[in-house]
Order: sequence, then structure tokens, then C-alpha cells
Amino acid sequence: MLRPDEIPAHIGMRRKIMDDTLPTPEGKLLPHPAEKAPRIFADTGDIKEIRPLHDAGIISGVTTNPTLMKKAGADSWESAKNMMKEIVKLLDPHPVSLELTEITKEKMIPQAEKLASYGHNVVIKVPIGGYEAVDSSIDRNTGLKVLHELWSRDIKTNATLIFNSTQALWAARAGATYVSPFLGRVADYMYKHDAVEMPLGNSLYHMEDHRGGKENSRLFNTSYVAAGGDRKDAGIRLIHEIAVIFANYRIKTEVLAASYRNDVQVPESLLCGADILTVPAPILMAVADHPLTDEGMKAFVEDSKAFDH
Ligand code: G3P
Repeated sequence: MLRPDEIPAHIGMRRKIMDDTLPTPEGKLLPHPAEKAPRIFADTGDIKEIRPLHDAGIISGVTTNPTLMKKAGADSWESAKNMMKEIVKLLDPHPVSLELTEITKEKMIPQAEKLASYGHNVVIKVPIGGYEAVDSSIDRNTGLKVLHELWSRDIKTNATLIFNSTQALWAARAGATYVSPFLGRVADYMYKHDAVEMPLGNSLYHMEDHRGGKENSRLFNTSYVAAGGDRKDAGIRLIHEIAVIFANYRIKTEVLAASYRNDVQVPESLLCGADILTVPAPILMAVADHPLTDEGMKAFVEDSKAFDH
């Protein structure tokens, strides 16, 4: 668990440099009390999950990816496109991240332009790397080049599959609007690969290089993430590390924490400086429940029966 004394005071200063997230609607005189609050997005491609969260004002954005679209029922590019367009329309003017499925720059740019034409609130999700892992003939920097090109075309982007702070910094330098560190997958990895007797949280840092060269073995994570806290904290420490680096250098790329596994990670990532949380709908639906709220409400309703209405 992230301890409050581990949270640097200046992390709160980051919000001061960021744009208002809930600007006052035109014509309304009262300022919104939470205009610099972190935003909550739904991490789903399922409109049935999105609608109730949207209607309750809980979410102000959606993130999708090919896995989530498939899970929501898309079985062809045509059906995925229709589902994406429906979400974009419902969420307008709030951002909706749609992920590229092409993997070469020549095809990714036109696909990004096509997806961006679905609405002014579309954000193009670009995997930060892994291209040469899929096909060794593809340029390893494809993701960065696409992010940079889309930045120059004024198309908003979300750099995804971020697992260390260097990837996040590279994405920000390329012009990404958002970076998506996957905190849950980092924690999952730690649980799966750390032997019980090993020092806590070190496996990503010490993992053997899968590209076959010892010199790359330190690429997998940073010592900050790997060395501190319990294994389950590793994902939260990744968010923390990126948020502090971005705060130190006044980087306005937003830290969009992703890949949530449980409700505890929600307040933890807020404590450590995430700008946006994209969370699966079932967690969002339940995270603000409290038995004492239920109990208190029942008592208020019961006692109010004593009054005439
Ligand atoms: O937004 C990224 C997210 O969908 C990844 O989540 O659960 O597949 O690790 P997960």
C-alpha cells in the first residue's frame, strides 16, 4: 500500500499547470468547483456499460482497444466501426480513445485520419512499441513516429502499452496528449514471476532479456518501480514515477492510469498523481458503495416517515 508519507507534496502542484478539465459551460456564471479534478474514464467498448456511467456524470471519457471491442461483441471491422461511432456520439464532447489496428506507419496515418473523422472528440490510441516483436521487418520506433506525425497534424493521441517512465517521456516528447501506463498488468506480472523468497518487487528489473542480449535487461522497468514496496504496489509506483517526472518538468501530457484490477487502486492512483483513471465499468459501479451510507440512508427514510409531506 502506498503510504501517505511517500507522496511528495509537490505532486499536487501538477494540477495547477493543467488545463481545466471541467470548464464552465458557456453562459453559466458559476465556476465549477472541481474544474481541475482528475477525470474518470470507462475502460470498455460496451455501450450498455457506458450509458449508465455517462448518465450519472461519473465518467467524462472512454478508452477502448481491440480486445475490449471484441469482448463487447465486435466480430468484424465493420461492426467495430459502428460500435466506436456510437460511443463517440454519446460521449461528445468528452474524449474517446480508439486504437489503431494497422502496424506500419504508412497504413496507421490514414487509419488514424479515418478514425479521427468520426468526431472531434476522438483520440487516437497508438501502441508505444512492440512492432518489431510482431514483425521483425517493422521499424521499432513506428509508434513514436506515428505519435509525432499525428501531433503535427493536430490529432490528439493516447500512447498505450506504457510500462516504464522512459516510454512515457519518449511519448510526451513525440507529442502524445495522453500516456497510458498499465498498472494492473505490472502488478500481475510481479505476482506471477516473483518467487516468494526473493526480495519484493524485483522481477521486472532483473528479468532476462527476451531479445537475447544482456545489455537490454534493464529496459524492462526502472529501479524505482522494481525496488520499492510490496509486489502489489508496483503498478501504482509506475504511475507515481511518471507523475513526478511530468510534474518536475511541467509536461502537460496527461497521465491516464489504466488496467485496473480492484477498487483499492482507484484512490491509490489519485494519491500518487494520476491525471485520469480509466477503469472497467464493474469497478466504477461499485467503488463508491459503502455499507454505512446504505444504513444511514435507510434510517433517514425511516425517520422521515414521522413527518407530514
Ligand atoms: O486501457 C488499457 C486497458 O484496457 C488494459 O487493461 O485489463 O487488459 O490489462 P487490461
